Amino acid sequence: MAVDLLLGLQWGDEGKGKIVDVLTKDYDIIARFQGGPNAGHTLEFDGIKHVLHTIPSGIFHKNAINVVGNGVVIDPVIFKKELDNLKKFDIDIKSKLLISRKAHLILPTHRLLDAASEASKGKAKIGSTLKGIGPTYMDKTGRNGMRIGDLELDDWKDKYRALANKHEAMIDFYDVDIQYDLKDLESDFCEAVEELKKLTFIDSEEYLYQAQKKGKKILAEGAQGSLLDIDFGTYPFVTSSNTTAAGACTGLGVAPNQIGDVKGIFKAYTTRVGSGPFPTELFDEDGETMGRVGNEFGATTGRPRRCGWLDLVALKYAVQINGVTVLMMMKGDVLSGFKKIKVCTAYNYKGETISHLPYNIEVENVTPIYTEMEGWKQDLTKMTSADELPKNLNAYIDFLETALEVPIKIVSVGPDRTQTIHR
Ligand code: IMP
Repeated sequence: MAVDLLLGLQWGDEGKGKIVDVLTKDYDIIARFQGGPNAGHTLEFDGIKHVLHTIPSGIFHKNAINVVGNGVVIDPVIFKKELDNLKKFDIDIKSKLLISRKAHLILPTHRLLDAASEASKGKAKIGSTLKGIGPTYMDKTGRNGMRIGDLELDDWKDKYRALANKHEAMIDFYDVDIQYDLKDLESDFCEAVEELKKLTFIDSEEYLYQAQKKGKKILAEGAQGSLLDIDFGTYPFVTSSNTTAAGACTGLGVAPNQIGDVKGIFKAYTTRVGSGPFPTELFDEDGETMGRVGNEFGATTGRPRRCGWLDLVALKYAVQINGVTVLMMMKGDVLSGFKKIKVCTAYNYKGETISHLPYNIEVENVTPIYTEMEGWKQDLTKMTSADELPKNLNAYIDFLETALEVPIKIVSVGPDRTQTIHR
């Protein structure tokens, strides 16, 4: 039985949480494969809004098992808060949430290092969520990291101490003004670790292998988006993991020939939080309207998201890198009311027209070339079937499908689970 993937194709915040929640009824297991609490997956149902950071978005479905894979980085303190927020839902966490022993731990000093690193960069800062993601993945690839499995050892605190000491020396090296009380942070960390230890730790690659053999249906849930991928994103303004399809193989231990559908999610326009190039970014009333109507504020940091028209050059690149087989378009409702809809179909790159994503998409090198389409006025948020969609929206969807050569199977018309149109 193949493992399907669900990936964000832009700079994150495409609405993966909602779609995983919608799709969970078709799957036995939902598995997160990378990233950490830098993610904020928002789910809405029954009039309530939930934001998850590390816990997979299948947690609200009774029958789904949720796996936090080896590629994920876990901050025990944030994880504990997420668990506390779930208490009111009567979920059997011990059996429904399984954590890979190989997942790495975010230490309090990783968070401080993130802050020190960003402060030292001045204007060149990444715009990190400051959750300690970069420093934790640095320790992972530097072969110094602490893993969930270490917490099962008697001497885990010695390991912690050695690593934290090293981090303190590194924080001094940055020579920036970071105020902190490590004793307090450590006491929260140790308390949260004790909570974490009550959960179920597994050898997740073996668990998922056996699940596949038994014919269980597995959905691998990505975090962030393809343009934030450490290799293929807008480096260095990226996150520190592989957010693209191959990341699901390394982040879960799933063999490449076991990958089935690759479901790619994109917004009908584009957003980005943090620094870095964004060729179709708008600084006018249209951009302001997208942000306001789309409620474009970071689910983790609350920062306003930068907004702009859909960038088909970048989207095509993501479809190609990931081998996307099915597309899902989110937030179509936000574009209702725009007289004209623009789509960037090529770049003017240093005077030349190109239709692929070049090495450098900084604004001084790239000017977007737009195709203009007619907008639609109708409110989509109460629509329930594809037949109801306005003619001009269908023309927009057809245009994108033709350009991307992949069918758009879901059009989301609002944040709630029920505001989802299948085509
Ligand atoms: P970090 O992963 O927190 O180090 O942040 C690196 C970059 O990725 C920054 O530009 C963040 O704003 C961005 N980023 C990280 N996680 C997310 C996410 O879940 N959604 C959108 N952007 C993100």
